[in-house]
Amino acid sequence: MQQTMQERPVDAAAPAGGKAAGEVLLQVKDLKVAYGGIQAVKGVNFEVRRGELVSLIGSNGAGKTTTMKAVTRGLPMADGEIFYLGQSIRNKGAWDLVAQGLVMVPEGRGVFARMTITENLLMGAYTRNDKAGIQADIERMFGIFPRLKERKDQLAGTMSGGEQQMLAMARALMSQPKVLLLDEPSMGLSPIMVDKIFEVVSDVYALGVTMVLVEQNASRALAIADRGYVMESGLITMTGQGRELLDDPRVRAAYLGE
Ligand SMILES: Nc1ncnc2c1ncn2[C@@H]1O[C@H](COP(=O)(O)OP(=O)(O)OP(=O)(O)O)[C@@H](O)[C@H]1O
Ligand SMILES: [Mg+2]
Repeated sequence: MQQTMQERPVDAAAPAGGKAAGEVLLQVKDLKVAYGGIQAVKGVNFEVRRGELVSLIGSNGAGKTTTMKAVTRGLPMADGEIFYLGQSIRNKGAWDLVAQGLVMVPEGRGVFARMTITENLLMGAYTRNDKAGIQADIERMFGIFPRLKERKDQLAGTMSGGEQQMLAMARALMSQPKVLLLDEPSMGLSPIMVDKIFEVVSDVYALGVTMVLVEQNASRALAIADRGYVMESGLITMTGQGRELLDDPRVRAAYLGE
């Protein structure tokens, strides 16, 4: 029987705010990805450890989404290796990875517009068969995202952008991810909604969910991250602790307009 999120033990080795990290869950080695003849990702290396919140920042077209898609088997690798839970993902399909807990909330959210909020959440749990646990997790999602509870029978397509982002995150959490990849969750939202989204990301992190946060909002993303990576023109150009990067003059000049 699967455990609900609440019952699931948070790894004792998980870092709380940048302390000792757990074992490596995701490792990307010299990843290259091309669209036709054009190389968008040119040899990227990064890793994510259990319990970490890792932010990947970089400007438009840097290759962040392309990297996330390759990691989740949405795009083929031209070269390099990706290991998830210690195994190469080369021979795995996108669905295998979701079933094993590697779950992405894509840029633009992708909720099922013609389904209600509750139906969307149930879709997120399609890899599970523990009915009672699923029901308990839906209630937990309504606790984390009260806005979704108020609107549980509303069609997802009629919700605001911020509400859809919350639903997309809640739906992903319903699959009990081991590593949750969020691609620009704050994109296109009002300042109040951006605040709310970062608050929720921090809450989910505090639950012990390992996360990769792809963001253009560099200051917010680095402020809550254990570690960060800066991506430019298909390469990782800087890495360090979230606060370290946030204080780095090069990051401040390039991404924080200073
Ligand atoms: N389907 C595609 N076909 C051809 N080129 C693509 C395709 N998708 C992305 N690219 C190109 O690959 C490069 C990296 O794009 P990607 O979407 O990964 O950037 P990003 O870092 O996610 O940017 P953003 O912050 O704007 O989302 C860009 O030059 C982009 O134009
Ligand atoms: Mg992108």
